[in-house]
Amino acid sequence: MSEHKTFYITTPIYYPSDKLHIGHSYTTVACDALARFKRMQGCDVMFLTGTDEHGQKIQDKAADAGVTPKEYVDKIVATVKDLWKLMDISYDRFIRTTDDYHMESCQKIFTKLYEQGDIYKGEYTGHYCKPCESFWTDSQLVDGKCPECGREVYDAHEEAYFFKTGKYADRLLKLYEENPQFIQPESRKNEMIAFIKQGLQDTCVSRTSVKWGIPVPFDPKHTMYVWVDALSNYISALGYGNEKYDEYSKFWPADLHMVGKEILRFHTILWPAMLMALDLPLPKRVFGHGWLLMNGGKMSKSVGNVVDPVILCDRYGVDAIRYFLLREIPFGNDGMFTNEALINRINSDLANDLGNLLSRTVAMCEKYFGGTVHKVAGTEAIDTELETMTSELLGKVTADMDSLTIPQALMEIFAVIQRANKYIDETAPWALAKDEANRARLESVLYHLCEALRVCGILLNAYLPSTAPKMMEQLGLDASAIDVEKAAYGAQESYTVHKGEALFPRIDVAKEIAHLKEEDEKRKAAAEAAKKAKEEAEKKAAAPAEESNVDFTHEAEISYDDFCKVELRVAEVRACENLKESKKLLHLTVFDGERERCILSGIAKWFKPEDLIGKKLGIVCNLAPRPMMKGKYVSEGMIFAADTADGGCSIPFYSDDTPVGARIH
Ligand code: MSP
Repeated sequence: MSEHKTFYITTPIYYPSDKLHIGHSYTTVACDALARFKRMQGCDVMFLTGTDEHGQKIQDKAADAGVTPKEYVDKIVATVKDLWKLMDISYDRFIRTTDDYHMESCQKIFTKLYEQGDIYKGEYTGHYCKPCESFWTDSQLVDGKCPECGREVYDAHEEAYFFKTGKYADRLLKLYEENPQFIQPESRKNEMIAFIKQGLQDTCVSRTSVKWGIPVPFDPKHTMYVWVDALSNYISALGYGNEKYDEYSKFWPADLHMVGKEILRFHTILWPAMLMALDLPLPKRVFGHGWLLMNGGKMSKSVGNVVDPVILCDRYGVDAIRYFLLREIPFGNDGMFTNEALINRINSDLANDLGNLLSRTVAMCEKYFGGTVHKVAGTEAIDTELETMTSELLGKVTADMDSLTIPQALMEIFAVIQRANKYIDETAPWALAKDEANRARLESVLYHLCEALRVCGILLNAYLPSTAPKMMEQLGLDASAIDVEKAAYGAQESYTVHKGEALFPRIDVAKEIAHLKEEDEKRKAAAEAAKKAKEEAEKKAAAPAEESNVDFTHEAEISYDDFCKVELRVAEVRACENLKESKKLLHLTVFDGERERCILSGIAKWFKPEDLIGKKLGIVCNLAPRPMMKGKYVSEGMIFAADTADGGCSIPFYSDDTPVGARIH
């Protein structure tokens, strides 16, 4: 790879609706390893990450927290940046979709697409939940009800702008065919092709009901619906459509968009279609990796099975967590996160294989040679085997990183580490040390071990950026030794080692699991207590309103016989209308099982005729008919209704299987 080759890699921009979890770290750590590796190869790298800050969910979260959406996201974004700092994420740029320059780019993109006819005004059809003021699509409903509050939803229409995704279907299929690299892993490509072939719909790209978003410049009652805003980040961050940066022509098209599999569709259909419409080059590769699963499901805040990366890094060290994420899950597939798997990985690979190799080697150099060993002429077959494996490592790891088989790259490095450990057992330096005649051979053995460790250290730097310098330090080298140019076996002539702390102390598995279980139980108990306290507080907050509203003045006592004189029945509302003459009254025509009767009821303030038509409600049947509205109407009954805490009115409705006319007792 030439000195000046550029490499542009992106993570998804994360929703700052909550603190990020280990699943988000997974994508970001993978990108970081790739970015570091490319830098090590001499590439001019742009590694972009950031946050996707608009939309209804964040608007709601901010409202719940009693702050503005911007105040809300500012707080979370600070924790995101802290997390990336903690995890040694070497991003070059962090974009926030609330940044002025990004909003400017989006508005330009939207306007251009509208002016050239790729965006048009239409009508969005969905379901509307009144109390939540939210639109939902068919698939978002839960049992046909609002996914937020579980209440009934209504069919609704909203004016909206649409992007002509459908127009690009054929060009997208051609793109996949001509660029087999474009969608990866290969297996996911077929899902995208099938999705397009079933008929590609245009994409709704604006909302009038969501206020927290980038205004459509030529029709500001609309805000851009999140994906156009979000996807544009990949070019606005380089300066497309703004003056903030001037790196678009240097870095675009992206070499790699790394995303989770659930958002691959947006990146391989909507995004390239948008770029085709803008007449811009397309990204070279989009990789959809699998999910980190917990208890069988995708980790997610709403399910409550998230793992906090900060807690893990504090307990086991950042590099241990990075290693686990990169090594444990076949890249592209789903993988389970378990405490047992994490601890076993740390113990077997990092403490036993890598840590032991370094500490044994350094200890023997000190013990037998006062710390300094040199290259010694002459090699034995066993040395050549270690040398060949180590020499081939750079090529293998490079190939793995190019094909994004990251765990395989680590396996190759650890194969050399394991081979070196075996080499110690086979050469038995402690036996060689017993005879002065073997001194040159002993030095040669230790030199070979140092060389293997040095080359592995250089390569490991992309994955374990705080461990690699520690390895070099113990080998007596400084940070400048971490350089692929120096990765050739035999390039270092001598070593003066310094014993340091164990790289990864061994963990007592049984004790640790017991500790984690205890912690987990404590956390669960705390969460349960917090939930209870919240419920109590909500109950308390609701109580005074109810109390203050309820009328506790009582009527005179009546006998059971008197009560039996009141004829209560279920009636069905067959018609209902507002009265021209009164704002308060609704005119109901109800069927009591034998006949229709007219009832005038003072509930027009709270109910529309369509709320009642077809419903079954309770009525008093034998109330003497009462002329109303100057005798224009005669009301022949009363319906059951109760005052609500907020001064409204609530009517109990009977289920469909209650017969009309049934007596109420
Ligand atoms: N904001 C959008 C992305 C817009 S990109 C133009 C979004 N954000 S998100 O916060 O929900 O982050 C989604 C990404 O986080 C996934 O695509 C994936 O990369 C990562 N992950 C979130 N949970 C994950 C797991 N449990 N496992 C692995 N990755 C996960 O979608």
